[in-house]
Amino acid sequence: MAKRLGILTGGGDCPGLNAVIRAAAKTAYRHHYELIGFRDGYAGLVEGRYLQLDPPAISGLLHRGGTILGTNNRKDPFNYPVKENGRLSYRDMSDWAMERLQEMGIEVLLVVGGDGTLSGARDFKHKGVRVIGIPKTIDNDLAATDQTFGFDTAVRTATDALDKLHTTAESHHRVMVLELMGRYAGWIALYSGLAGGADVILIPEIPWHIDGVLAKIRARQAEGKPFSIVVVAEGIKSPQGELVVKRVVEDSAEKVRLGGAGQMVGKLIEERGGIETRVTVLGHIQRGGSPSAYDRVLATRFGQAAAELAIQGIHGVMVCLQGSEISHVPLEEAVSKLRTIPPDHQLIQTARAIGISFGEI
Ligand code: F6P
Repeated sequence: MAKRLGILTGGGDCPGLNAVIRAAAKTAYRHHYELIGFRDGYAGLVEGRYLQLDPPAISGLLHRGGTILGTNNRKDPFNYPVKENGRLSYRDMSDWAMERLQEMGIEVLLVVGGDGTLSGARDFKHKGVRVIGIPKTIDNDLAATDQTFGFDTAVRTATDALDKLHTTAESHHRVMVLELMGRYAGWIALYSGLAGGADVILIPEIPWHIDGVLAKIRARQAEGKPFSIVVVAEGIKSPQGELVVKRVVEDSAEKVRLGGAGQMVGKLIEERGGIETRVTVLGHIQRGGSPSAYDRVLATRFGQAAAELAIQGIHGVMVCLQGSEISHVPLEEAVSKLRTIPPDHQLIQTARAIGISFGEI
């Protein structure tokens, strides 16, 4: 049997996943390894659904968004949903998955994911499986890497939306609120707010008050600017100090799905400020589309580095970006904490210095 590596993409998709798959496959192939791609995240591993990522299978992938392997952010192999006699129960399928990898002769499994998927990779490592993590998420919230791929493309998409909202806000003398993703980190909101000329940016890391938001909008009105742009990260808390939750997905490692913060802020601006406001929720558009050049390059570097490490016999790590260099850290470190924005981050200082409000009073 030829030497083999495996790869799967788990969690929410993001632009650049296909570029990782392509780079890992090309690297493996050059070293006379086969790369097996499991479909739909860990589900393909548990259920035996996979394909061989040979040169024809990876052709034309670089610019394509999404993942040709499919993904899901529900099926945790350590707590796997199984239907028996119409009833749903959960089972630990990790031993089964481990045996499957052995049977197939897969030396190392490359796991491309965010913190949920990579926690699974860490748990497989502790069972003795040879795994390498590759960090992806538009949220950019993984502590052990300076950046994840997918983030740059999401920021560009959000910036483009802000450019479009600007013209209509100005024409109608309105406040436009844009709700952006990012979970418990405000990176997408901060970067795109800066790039898109937001007047107010609300992020989970900085407590806000509606009076702070209204003060900025009114100051602009007093300067003869009767329109304002307010960027809201989905992870901000309500005035009562609670997360704004859209739904709870019970069979997911990350059960809480955020959503509704933009509507909440828009309503408060209208009710407390008497200022006409419209709310846009950019949603999953942030996860779609062709990856930016930056994300293609980062994803390619990660895919190549991960395959190269696997072939060299290094595993139990996650590849990461440190400054401008690709490096790797133990998987335990990769999932130990979220990377949120330090309140004294230089970008926050820059934003404040040019008059952007974070809704503080
Ligand atoms: O983690 C990526 C992300 O897009 C978050 O920004 C967002 O909160 C979440 O996934 C949405 O999840 P779903 O696709 O399950 O609605």
